[in-house]
Amino acid sequence: MIGVPDRIRVHPSSLAGVVHVPGDKSLSHRALLVPARCGGPVTVRGLAAGADVRATAAALRALGVRVELEPDGVGMSGVVEGDLGAAGPGADGRPVAIDCGNSGTTLRLLAGLAAGAGRAVRLDGDASLRRRPVDRIAGPLTAAGALVAAREDRLPPLEVRPAGRPRGILWDAPVASAQIKSAVLLLGLGATDPTRVRAPAPSRDHTERLLRHAGLRVEGGPTADGGEDVVLHPGTPRLTTVDVARDPSAAAFWHVAAACGAGSVVTPDVCLNPGRTGALDVLRALGAAVDVGPTRDRTGEPTGAVTVAPGELGGAEVRGGLVVRALDELPVLALAGAVSRDGLEVREAAELRVKESDRVRGVVALLAAVGVTATELPDGFVVPGGQRPGGGRVRADGDHRIAMTAAVAGVIGTAPVEIDGAATIASSYPTFLTDLAALGGRVEAVDA
Ligand code: S3P
Repeated sequence: MIGVPDRIRVHPSSLAGVVHVPGDKSLSHRALLVPARCGGPVTVRGLAAGADVRATAAALRALGVRVELEPDGVGMSGVVEGDLGAAGPGADGRPVAIDCGNSGTTLRLLAGLAAGAGRAVRLDGDASLRRRPVDRIAGPLTAAGALVAAREDRLPPLEVRPAGRPRGILWDAPVASAQIKSAVLLLGLGATDPTRVRAPAPSRDHTERLLRHAGLRVEGGPTADGGEDVVLHPGTPRLTTVDVARDPSAAAFWHVAAACGAGSVVTPDVCLNPGRTGALDVLRALGAAVDVGPTRDRTGEPTGAVTVAPGELGGAEVRGGLVVRALDELPVLALAGAVSRDGLEVREAAELRVKESDRVRGVVALLAAVGVTATELPDGFVVPGGQRPGGGRVRADGDHRIAMTAAVAGVIGTAPVEIDGAATIASSYPTFLTDLAALGGRVEAVDA
């Protein structure tokens, strides 16, 4: 099956084998954005080829950066060359219109990078992105001196007009969000003095690692009281090559399917940054057989092979720091909770409500559609154990992770699952269905 049809049916199947998932989406965005500040050519390899990362590439091109990418087998590789800090579109204060598509990371990180580089932008996106809050980044940008306007003060389109060089700020983020932290740090690259971000819990530190790798002074990290405190000293990043590790959030679909009994699956070269391994910890806590091979460094990130095999699943609770470390995988982990003996409880995860869709509501609706009972909580959900998904029909609601979770429900369930709006899978994982078929899964396109 080529591409991702909008309506698909996934049948109960056994899976086995090795799957090379795409480059990590978070890392791919950063592998484009940071080089756009370097001035010289930067070779980038192994980027995710999904629509979200393409949106970042297109945005940088609109700002005059040379971004040349070619297919490299699984994803994209090529060259980024530009100096957003120099003259170019938006530097005269007239905002450049940029379509971020479905990608919240593009919108938030680019808002910070552009403001720090003196480029005016007007950032917009699809219906899903237009429902997601931007006030969380408008705050620090305004504090640094930029002029910021958003629809109803909190929704895209977001217009950012820098007014001279930004001030170095101390920003106390109300939630642990890597997108907020990264937007503030990328803004700080061009600031007059150091920029400091504090948060109630650590979030993925890919931006800090890449900026350090690029020779910048980035201090701090997790704090003794469970929070996070990071300081960036302004400067120009220097990079020649960025190699992107494979995506643990994409691999998680196969890991959960395996843990739920589909078979044994190996995912080589995935990013094992501790900020991203929460889903593996949840699977281990449930009792799945998780094996992590030796790690090696790839542009400042630890990577290695992960093998997951079926196990006797007990029960688990996810809250606090583990929520942030397993954030994007919580929808698919709900399936492991359903087939476990004692179930899965997820709390302190209200951030799930501002993702590509309201994922608390979305995952409970998805489970109901395939005959699994779950309870929605203001800040999470509870899935009682002892339930195998049956057949059903799920609407993806513009959310790639809900669509892929529904596909896994079809694989591990007792009857086929039909998915409407499956085309959204291409925003992060365009080769998902070919990988599913290669592992032995049965999937077909359904005529509308
Ligand atoms: C991302 C951070 C996470 C995650 C998103 C990508 C990033 O969001 O959900 O898919 O690349 O920084 P938070 O901003 O909630 O950490």
